[in-house]
Amino acid sequence: MKEKKTSVVRRGIWPANTGKPVVTPLTPSVVYHYKDVDELRSKHEGGIVGFDYARDGHPNAEILAEKISRLEGASSGCMTASGMSAISVAFLSFLKKGDKIAVASQMYGRSLRMMKEEWPRMGFETEIFNASDPSTFDNAIGVGTRIVLAEIVSNPMLRITHFEELVEKAKSVGALLLIDNTFTTPNGFRPLEHGADLVMNSVTKMLSGHSDLNLGYIGATDDTLMERITEAIGIYGFNSSPYNCWMAERGLHTFDLRYHQAQKNALQLAEFLQNQPNVSSVIYPKFEDHPDFEMAKKLLNNGFGSIVSFVLDGGIEQANAFLRAAENIPFCPTLGDVATMIIMPAISSHRKFPKEERIALGIVDNLIRVSVGIEDIELIKDDFSAALKAAI
Ligand SMILES: Cc1ncc(COP(=O)(O)O)c(C=O)c1O
Repeated sequence: MKEKKTSVVRRGIWPANTGKPVVTPLTPSVVYHYKDVDELRSKHEGGIVGFDYARDGHPNAEILAEKISRLEGASSGCMTASGMSAISVAFLSFLKKGDKIAVASQMYGRSLRMMKEEWPRMGFETEIFNASDPSTFDNAIGVGTRIVLAEIVSNPMLRITHFEELVEKAKSVGALLLIDNTFTTPNGFRPLEHGADLVMNSVTKMLSGHSDLNLGYIGATDDTLMERITEAIGIYGFNSSPYNCWMAERGLHTFDLRYHQAQKNALQLAEFLQNQPNVSSVIYPKFEDHPDFEMAKKLLNNGFGSIVSFVLDGGIEQANAFLRAAENIPFCPTLGDVATMIIMPAISSHRKFPKEERIALGIVDNLIRVSVGIEDIELIKDDFSAALKAAI
């Protein structure tokens, strides 16, 4: 009786099945067992393939990373717990005492804070350059620079990096160029094919597309870089969860469709906003008055993306009136969702920056960043129309 009750804790019972599942199985197992020392040793030495501990890798991460690597043109890639952990692990993998960092001034706020506050706290000097102005590269990138970080299309001002010059400069000093491709996505530009050493994505955003998980990806065309990163993910514990990878793979299947629909909507919304009386400026890289229009045309061959930023006339009162009236459009700090969402970077991603610094980047108080979704454009325009009227 005792034996029967406790035997349920024993695993290893699998139903007979010669059919292969069509859907990727979710594999939450933290551990994988081997039959003896010889077999485990063979696994460690690469004689046989397999997993042993999920912090070092698991099937759902491997499948998802392989698919994203295909999109990014990487020869190998890894999943991490979040976009920020993908950035962290790149730096932790390669920085050593005395190294310097160079980073673009126009970036996601938390990434900038990591570069300007966290790494300097540990003794790494960070230099800042303007990615849209190559004349600033020489001052920031030089002997001792180990990693250069930039976004192709920046968050939230949609500034465009002078990519060729940045690649050339990073290579000339032997620095690794890491590109955050979250805003741009591999459909917009594939940095590894044009000379970047490493690419990362916040998979939380457009690649998974449903705001129901945090996940990061990092990939390269040089497998030795990825071997080091894989090791560091296991050492520092930046690993992804199987469930999140499983969910993200499902989202990734529709990425291309969502991307094209959202981008089409973004252009129409941007044009609509240009004609509104209480919108003082609309930022979209397809517009000729965009400061990096020429570079956008050169790099973004597949369209100009699904993010539109604009400045609403007035102050906090008008902003609140707009947000309250836009009740169908969530006011929340993310992007790349199937549904349209809005955020004001001055009180979210860039809220910890001194006001003058933030304004110098163009991030004024009433800047509204719209992540355009895949809804019918008429629905989106109706919502914006009503919200803008309420804010006059
Ligand atoms: C451009 C960019 N990079 C990185 C991140 C961080 O990603 P995660 O939230 O998955 O850590 C974000 C988040 O908004 C982002 O916008």
